[in-house]
Amino acid sequence: MQEKVLNLAVVGAGYWGKNLVRNFATAKRCSLKFVCDLDEKILAAQKKSFPAVQTTTRLDDVLADKTVGAVVIAVDVPKHFDVAKRCLESGKHIYVEKPLTLTVADAKELVELAAKKNVKLMVGHLLEYHPAVNFVKDMIDTGKLGRLYYMYTQRVNLGIVRKNENAWWSLAPHDISVICYLFGSQPVSVSAWGQCYLQNGIEDVVFATVKFNDGKMANIHCSWLDPHKIRKMTVVGSEKMATFDDMEASEKIRIWDKGAAVKKDTVASYPEIISLRFGDIVIPKISSGEPLSLECAHFVDCVLDDKKIRSDSLDGLRVVQILEAGQKSLKNNGAPVSTEDLL
Ligand SMILES: NC(=O)c1ccc[n+]([C@@H]2O[C@H](COP(=O)([O-])OP(=O)(O)OC[C@H]3O[C@@H](n4cnc5c(N)ncnc54)[C@H](O)[C@@H]3O)[C@@H](O)[C@H]2O)c1
Repeated sequence: MQEKVLNLAVVGAGYWGKNLVRNFATAKRCSLKFVCDLDEKILAAQKKSFPAVQTTTRLDDVLADKTVGAVVIAVDVPKHFDVAKRCLESGKHIYVEKPLTLTVADAKELVELAAKKNVKLMVGHLLEYHPAVNFVKDMIDTGKLGRLYYMYTQRVNLGIVRKNENAWWSLAPHDISVICYLFGSQPVSVSAWGQCYLQNGIEDVVFATVKFNDGKMANIHCSWLDPHKIRKMTVVGSEKMATFDDMEASEKIRIWDKGAAVKKDTVASYPEIISLRFGDIVIPKISSGEPLSLECAHFVDCVLDDKKIRSDSLDGLRVVQILEAGQKSLKNNGAPVSTEDLL
């Protein structure tokens, strides 16, 4: 039997989009038919690397081609909504880079349109496809970390300084998506503090706290104005703790057999004793798959085999909802903003 193949187009082949072009050009079960970008120089470079791919500055060329089943969108974020909407209206499955849109209202419209057209909508929440993150997810789901308490993420570096979005919208989508993925639930409120040093009204650094109604909590620190390049997260459970350091070449995960237990004492003078446990630190071997190629393969498989996408339209909407709540909090000096009434 002949293998099904998905014909694809990538729209936006700039800093990030060129990675998507490279991955989809070599991924199994798909054929990259078009690269579309407004910049002729970018198109010329892509044509040189992939001579069989058609290049165009006109999205209409892509949409008019009935053999193109899916469009991968990596244009700048303020244009996500318009490009995604046009692709959905043409009945194409879409993969949109993070964040899905800049407002909850726009994200909801895309989610509804994708459902109406019966096509897939995936959002590029890359970390949900990272083998190291999935190692931690498996430990959580099988109870090895015990009861989850809290986690924190650090995503800081010097650059890239963006002009049309702040550090919260540019960097935090990854952290928000991974927090919701690992915790398996939806937060109830966000408090965010930040400052604008380089450009008026655009926060360079943000500290945000996300709370869940079962007592779990997560903190996000993101900045493009920092001396360190850190891509790290720490998850604290009642039995064990886990750290993920994406800057480490091979030893990305450490599992810490550390914890604290509260015991009732029979001696009346100390009603409770807190005992601390300092055990082994284990560095597990993690499979070496490139997260982006795993993410691209997942999209192709889900479209061709009609399977549920991990970072689907509702996941994309949830991240935008938390971003929007965080943005409101940023403008109100960190006052907690409920996420519940936004969905
Ligand atoms: N997953 C990740 O780790 C990651 C990292 C960086 C960026 N991104 C995302 O990738 C997207 C693009 O970011 P970037 O840094 O590559 O931006 P960029 O400005 O480098 O690239 C955007 C490209 O889109 C093109 N473009 C704009 N409007 C277009 C249109 N209507 N039709 C065709 N082409 C159009 C531009 O010419 C440009 O080449 C954003 O959504 C961003 O959030 C994701």
